Amino acid sequence: MKHLPRIVLVVITLILLYGTALLVFVDPNIGLELDRHYLLNDTLRFGRGFLWGAATSAYQVEGNCTNSNWWEFESAVDKQGLPRIERGQRSGIAADHWRRYKEDVQLLKEMRLNAYRFSVEWSKIEPEEGIFADSALDHYERVVDELRANGIEPFITLHHFTNPLWFERKGGFERDDSPEILARFARRVAGRLGPKVRFWATVNEPNVYAAEGYYSGTFPPGKQNPARAILVFRNLLRAHTACYLAIKEADPEAQVGLPISVFIIDPAEKWNLLDVLLAHYLNKAYTVSAVEYLTTGVYDLSLPGIGTDHYESGIPDAFDFVGLNYYSRIYCHFKPFAEEKFVAVAPPLTAMQADNGWEIYKEGLIRALYMISSRTGKPIYITENGIADDSDQKRATFIEDHVLTANRAIFERMNVRGYFYWSLMDNFEWTHGFDKRFGLYAVDYATQKRTVRQGSLKYKEIVMTWARRLR
Ligand code: FCB
Repeated sequence: MKHLPRIVLVVITLILLYGTALLVFVDPNIGLELDRHYLLNDTLRFGRGFLWGAATSAYQVEGNCTNSNWWEFESAVDKQGLPRIERGQRSGIAADHWRRYKEDVQLLKEMRLNAYRFSVEWSKIEPEEGIFADSALDHYERVVDELRANGIEPFITLHHFTNPLWFERKGGFERDDSPEILARFARRVAGRLGPKVRFWATVNEPNVYAAEGYYSGTFPPGKQNPARAILVFRNLLRAHTACYLAIKEADPEAQVGLPISVFIIDPAEKWNLLDVLLAHYLNKAYTVSAVEYLTTGVYDLSLPGIGTDHYESGIPDAFDFVGLNYYSRIYCHFKPFAEEKFVAVAPPLTAMQADNGWEIYKEGLIRALYMISSRTGKPIYITENGIADDSDQKRATFIEDHVLTANRAIFERMNVRGYFYWSLMDNFEWTHGFDKRFGLYAVDYATQKRTVRQGSLKYKEIVMTWARRLR
């Protein structure tokens, strides 16, 4: 060693440091590959009470949500004067689910599903601040009764992206008192439906709501302000806790959880330490922070160069389950000298993709489940997983691969209790309008006719095999 020139020693030390940093920060599961044949030959491990469902959200399927912030957003334009929704589409009567819910319950039954995740539209139930419309609550009670009468477990989301106009105009979730405002609504809904509904998801994807509405500005209110995004994320997590307490007060037996969107964020270049560090920080900020908030009551967000926040609710462990919405992964690349410091990079050309460009990546599901499971140990419901696939060429394999990956996770001792395919039927996919088709059932919007997609029958087949094994 003594004879090595100093420069060589420095280089060796730097290489060692670089390598160690890579090892510390890279997700050890990054290269995981699950063999499809192995998955297919595995025993099914889903338990007796496993929930097999499909999901929707009120705004996307019901129609006529005229009093909502999204309704207003649909007719707005962005800074370039372009319509907010692709091709200037409007949600209108959407899939007319408000009137056709009975028919739609039969679609669930036809698929042999035993659970339905849907949301209640806040703007219909509380059209003016503090004034509740009994007629809207009556409607949702009828939906719940219809589900129960058909042996289907209702799984209700309280808040799925949309706000009443009065709330949006007051400042929405930028307001410090927003958690209490949402909890008042939660109390009312749970007070009414509580005895008939066991599963409650509080706030759908706080991370997506904050990022799209306040960072990229693609969702209402269309702001591009990182500090506001961090604040809104915090308030949505606080809102979760406030709703959790409100629902538990109405029904201590209720199972209340938070659906988090997990997009696996991987470095665009595995050997580029900057990309690796970026992926680490983005995963932490975007998803891990929400999971850790649930267990500890502490919201700790730190994105170097963008912003930090620290908040303690003093109420740890305010959740009975975690909801996982999993679709795909994103590759991120750090650009130290560009104005936009980090960018998402397209998946490799060899990767299979959905119609919206999302990479089909089943291993991401088990990575996401592991991330949650290792931090909480609580039951996990896969509250959304699905594919935009108009030609229906990929749906069957997508469903089979993801369900069997969840099966593998159960073998690995992760506490997975349910799987909800997104979506029961085609719907208004936010800024994509009606163009992206996720449905188990295709919707012809001219006639509102629902037709089962052939690929969806794979789901039915899996559920029927599971049911047969239990007998
Ligand atoms: C999720 C949303 C859901 C749907 C799917 C495709 O982020 O929760 O409403 O749009 O994406």
